[in-house]
Amino acid sequence: MSRLVVVSNRVADPRKTAAGGLAVALGEALAETGGLWFGSSGTVLDRGQGEGKLHTQRAGNVTLATVDLSQEDHDGYYRGYANGVLWPVFHYRLDLADFDAGHIEGYRRVNRMFAHRLRPLLQPDDVIWVHDYHLIPLAAELRAMGCQQRIGFFLHIPVPPPLILAAIPAHEWLMRALFAYDLVGVQSQADLTHLSRYLLSEANAEAVGENSFGAFNRQLRAGAFPIGIDVDEFTALADGEESRTMLATLREQYAKRQLLAGVDRLDYSKGLPQRVRAFRTLLERYPENRHSATLIQVAAPSREDVHAYGDIRRELEGLCGAINGDFGDIDWMPIRYIHRTVARKRVPGLYRAARVGLVTPLRDGMNLVAKEFVAVQNPDDPGVLVLSRFAGAAEQLRDALLVNPYDTQATADAIQRALHMPLQERQMRHARLLEEIRRHDVHWWRRGFLAALMETGA
Ligand code: ADP
Ligand code: F6P
Repeated sequence: MSRLVVVSNRVADPRKTAAGGLAVALGEALAETGGLWFGSSGTVLDRGQGEGKLHTQRAGNVTLATVDLSQEDHDGYYRGYANGVLWPVFHYRLDLADFDAGHIEGYRRVNRMFAHRLRPLLQPDDVIWVHDYHLIPLAAELRAMGCQQRIGFFLHIPVPPPLILAAIPAHEWLMRALFAYDLVGVQSQADLTHLSRYLLSEANAEAVGENSFGAFNRQLRAGAFPIGIDVDEFTALADGEESRTMLATLREQYAKRQLLAGVDRLDYSKGLPQRVRAFRTLLERYPENRHSATLIQVAAPSREDVHAYGDIRRELEGLCGAINGDFGDIDWMPIRYIHRTVARKRVPGLYRAARVGLVTPLRDGMNLVAKEFVAVQNPDDPGVLVLSRFAGAAEQLRDALLVNPYDTQATADAIQRALHMPLQERQMRHARLLEEIRRHDVHWWRRGFLAALMETGA
């Protein structure tokens, strides 16, 4: 059987429960098959301190191979191009993209350096699976060095419409680089439609079968593979001591209140100011919720050296402070805003204590928080998921209350409906949602992608 080689910007020890979406999903995939996981070490060195040095380490049946970056490479590749250009554009935010700076050189340099470090570790029949927008040109660099293995790419973030992609000054170069892969996977049908239209119109690709495209003397398959969670692993966390303690504490503290929970990275794509404004509108329009509805919003610090992330933090703090000032009382604060990463073992307790889970991104590739919230609800008395129709998860989770997060009034109305939904309707919606996330879990995602990759004609 071929060895699996996973490549992603972040690498995590698969033996440790940790680290959220991409890392958990990939750790699980590798733990089952064994293999190699290659990426950056997360260590940023001063220039001349030995950047590019390879560290290898055994973690069960997986070899972790990581390289350090110099400050200059980190600035150009991760902060500048990946998170200053690609992240905003792929989330439809051309206004936040920093096109002027010459970050693309750093992005190219690090992708080339990764390819050089990875190449000697590869075996001829390896199957290589590259992840996310940090590494779009990696396969092209590997092919230029003679690699003939099957190489698949999975994009965890959304694909915008073709003309938004075409605004990236180097988009032709990125598009050509995509054709070095045998299979490109995206999260949703909407993403697949955008990608197909982009390849046909901007690359003048030839359609050579359903979701297969020919251009630049290569053939590329594309497909939608919505990522899932490991439902059993997450429900086991919910039954653990730390989660149960969290649940008991919140139940005691908020015995007479109704809790709403939001758990996100502090990212402008997550729609946090819009969510808080909708909560304010709820308190204004439906005053019966005052002294009762309480929002616990946890926002993990993220990419703090990127300008737009500082702006969103200040905006959010201002909005939360104003609501607490205007509506709070000696014995009740409407919002508890926490700018921190909560230990993963405690997160299920928070979800379970909540009557309403708020997952309202302006745009999101998938959003695993939505699935985690559903996974750990008590089926006899489940909370209600309020979900943005602009999250990839909305294509699957049709029994959530779907909202347009830009529509403050309608979102407030949906929250009101969620807070007062009869038990029977909550149970029915939850049962259907749970069935969906169980059927399309992380194992299904991995098997589906790798099976499709093995079918390609490499
Ligand atoms: P993204 O990949 O954009 O961060 P996802 O919702 O797909 O968004 O995945 C986020 C993951 O990180 C989930 O597993 C979630 O539980 C975890 N996470 C997000 N914010 C926090 C936080 N503040 N504290 C702890 N875990 C968090
Ligand atoms: O899901 C998108 C993603 O960018 C992943 O690639 C990444 O692991 C996660 O969000 C968190 O972002 P970062 O690695 O920049 O902290």
